[in-house]
Amino acid sequence: YVVDKGNHRHFMEKEIYEQPEVVTHTLAHYIDFAKGEIRDGADKLDFAALDRLAISACGTAYYAGLIGKYWFERYARLPVEIDVASEFRYREMPLTGKMAALFVSQSGETADTLASLRYCKGEGVAIGAIVNVAESTIAREADAVFPTLAGPEIGVASTKAFTCQLAVLASLALAAAKARGTLTRAQESEMVQALVEGRRIFGEVLRSVQPRIERLSRELSQYKDVLYLGRGTNYPLALEGALKLKEISYIHAEGYAAGELKHGPIALIDEAMPVIVIAPHDKLFEKTASNMQEVAARGGRIILITDEKGARAVSLKTMETIILPQVADIVTPILYALPVQLIAYHTAVFMGTDVDQPRNLAKSVTVE
Ligand code: G6P
Repeated sequence: YVVDKGNHRHFMEKEIYEQPEVVTHTLAHYIDFAKGEIRDGADKLDFAALDRLAISACGTAYYAGLIGKYWFERYARLPVEIDVASEFRYREMPLTGKMAALFVSQSGETADTLASLRYCKGEGVAIGAIVNVAESTIAREADAVFPTLAGPEIGVASTKAFTCQLAVLASLALAAAKARGTLTRAQESEMVQALVEGRRIFGEVLRSVQPRIERLSRELSQYKDVLYLGRGTNYPLALEGALKLKEISYIHAEGYAAGELKHGPIALIDEAMPVIVIAPHDKLFEKTASNMQEVAARGGRIILITDEKGARAVSLKTMETIILPQVADIVTPILYALPVQLIAYHTAVFMGTDVDQPRNLAKSVTVE
């Protein structure tokens, strides 16, 4: 694996553009594309026997885990508890024999995640780990390792590791659903097909949204605060979008569940705080659209990331609308991560920050 920037200005940009390939590579590890089914062995955790799953991680890996929670609960009917590892390790959660713990980490070395793993291990809980570095400490100490095949990630702000974590979590949620009998063969094949087809469009989507996002980012770089909103699996993505933007552009950003708008952030809405709304035209779209109306009514500027149907359904004037292809629900978090990453990247480039090495941040946090 040659680790250089190739034709890209930054590792982060290169890693964003590697996603079509590495997500495919990762999916192929868990899914038999030819047969259209989840491979045996994806369920090394004996999901059928569990009554609870605890997920814990830090930073971007935590937001991937949060999306995983929606999937395990929806598709496999498996209740999930999720914490940032620095809280999990100290919060004295009762651990029972019928639970397993899943840790998500790019580096496999993050101190709090590792400490949480050891805490669970000491209590006799089965441990799964989604890691990008196969020879890492977390990989070595887990009972079951689920690799992300993202290749080395150099940019401090995680991009390709995140979407590969989502690919693994989606596959594991489907494997768990299969094991628990909550997914028919037909549903399995439909969802697997959606993932297999979804990854084919990632490259084209990156290329097609790039010019528009560059334009938008030039504008965004003039602002001091940005709010991200989303519902369902787009809520963790809103959190991830805000994290990415603040990490590398140093613009203050917050992510909120769209339904929480009324419980706080609405007080801040004015023309000085753009609101990025992540809203594919899914079951929750109407709800999010009404939150957008509330923002517009207060003079807020909206950047809408949606699909054709969603764009047609809203009549209000946006600062920018980014239209993505319509995809199945299980694909949206991976697809919508792409424009979200590009917005952070291009805004940071306009700000002139050190994109790959943002101030005060480390790629791997091995101290508490
Ligand atoms: C640091 C990195 C983030 C990463 C987090 C967790 O904060 O800057 O990009 O998401 O650590 O790291 P891990 O290696 O455990 O995924």
